[in-house]
Amino acid sequence: MTRIAIDPSRPIGHLDRKVFGGFVEHLGRCIYGGLYDEGSPLRDDRGFRKDVLSLLRELRMGVLRWPGGNFVSNYHWADGIGPKDARPMRPELAWGGEESNRFGTDEYLAYCAELGTEPYICLNMGTGTLEEALAWVEYCNDARDTYWAGLRRRNGRDEPWRVTYWGLGNEMYGDWQVGALSADEYVREATRWARAIRMLDPGAKLVSCGMNGWNEWDRVVIDGMAGLTDYHSLHIYTGSEDYWTNVLAPHQAERAIDCARSLLRRAAYRQKLATPPRIAYDEWNVWYRNMTGALEERYDFTDALAVATYLNIFVRNCDWVRMANLAQMVNAIAPIVTTPETATVQPIWYPVLLHAQAALEVAVDVHVSGPVVDAELSAGPSRWPHRVSDLGPFTLVDAAATVNAHRRRIALTLVNRSPEEPETVELIVRDYALEGEASIRTVTAESSNKSRVLPGVEAASLEQGSVAAKDGRVVVTLPPRSFTVIEGDLADD
Ligand code: AHR
Repeated sequence: MTRIAIDPSRPIGHLDRKVFGGFVEHLGRCIYGGLYDEGSPLRDDRGFRKDVLSLLRELRMGVLRWPGGNFVSNYHWADGIGPKDARPMRPELAWGGEESNRFGTDEYLAYCAELGTEPYICLNMGTGTLEEALAWVEYCNDARDTYWAGLRRRNGRDEPWRVTYWGLGNEMYGDWQVGALSADEYVREATRWARAIRMLDPGAKLVSCGMNGWNEWDRVVIDGMAGLTDYHSLHIYTGSEDYWTNVLAPHQAERAIDCARSLLRRAAYRQKLATPPRIAYDEWNVWYRNMTGALEERYDFTDALAVATYLNIFVRNCDWVRMANLAQMVNAIAPIVTTPETATVQPIWYPVLLHAQAALEVAVDVHVSGPVVDAELSAGPSRWPHRVSDLGPFTLVDAAATVNAHRRRIALTLVNRSPEEPETVELIVRDYALEGEASIRTVTAESSNKSRVLPGVEAASLEQGSVAAKDGRVVVTLPPRSFTVIEGDLADD
């Protein structure tokens, strides 16, 4: 039996909807043949695949990062505007192949507008110049009668697009990145860029390029950039064939958040900043099977448990994590898979969907007491240098909770990581009482409604039900390997 005590009087913070963000890169079949397909009968008049668009709309993403990723470090945005047939074909260095430029800035921004999501553009600090970056900001955001804004108007968009979020380069520390820099070189260059972009667009919110949160790169970049940026980015990918390593590795994000938060606080104190930059986890996911090519990872339900845990961690740390972008959304390491005929979803889709649907305005304190994982950790092979054995013990059930602003509604997200055993949980809300019927949605690998699934893509099953609160509490039995959302009304105790 697991007891979960929730304390709505102890808020963690306002939950920013940008935590339910996405990322799409010009990589494999993510854009071309994924969300954009001019030759498809399923496209709309702009070339957007309607089936993909409607699946993405269900996820209610707060923000969508584009165009990369590694791709951006060799991307010249001005190639991707104006009449499509006049756009140049270019060699693509990050993933190999060519870039047709038929999907560019205006297509991406129209896509975000269609989804009702905030755009977030990552700038090319590899082969790109500051002049080019300024032109991009001017093209997107300037309301005046200036050259690049005029070009935007001639290309059909009168009003500024109002892009608020701009990333200062992608993974600039890595030798896989075109034009990689040392941390000191990055700070020197990014400082010039940040100052100039702010002069052109004082409303721009800038994201410094971070690594994993605990690296020397992060310290140098945070110390150098904290006064000029609004977010520091972190990336994390985990994954392993070993069940427990796969399911528990997301806890490494807790270490990353802890370390980055300390570095950000230290910089803010030493530099007398009123507010430190916050964390943008602008790439995260399970990824370990297909490391090259089009990265068409096939996910199983174990990966879905990891994804659910990642989102619980972001909710529990929402005072610092103000943005997080699932990398990626379509075909390449993605919840959505397309064929020419259809689009379907992989198991990791369900925790992303249910989290985004259930989350309320304020994350609150949750204390879980119950059985802990009794397994040899980091026993299995991992693609990534993540060790979490020093972070445990881990409870079998991982939990996060949000309430609405008036503390009258509560939503809980629970991951039962036990591979074989159901786990009964009792929910206690301190100083409040659960009342009436609480609704329950549970997703498991055991499938009774295998819908929307293609050969090679694993099914998952979503069951809905309800449970009556008794004496202000709710008791629910979670199936093994399951993700559950419980939503209910709160009354004063
Ligand atoms: O998301 C796939 C790749 O992973 C991105 O292009 C890069 O930023 C990271 O290394």
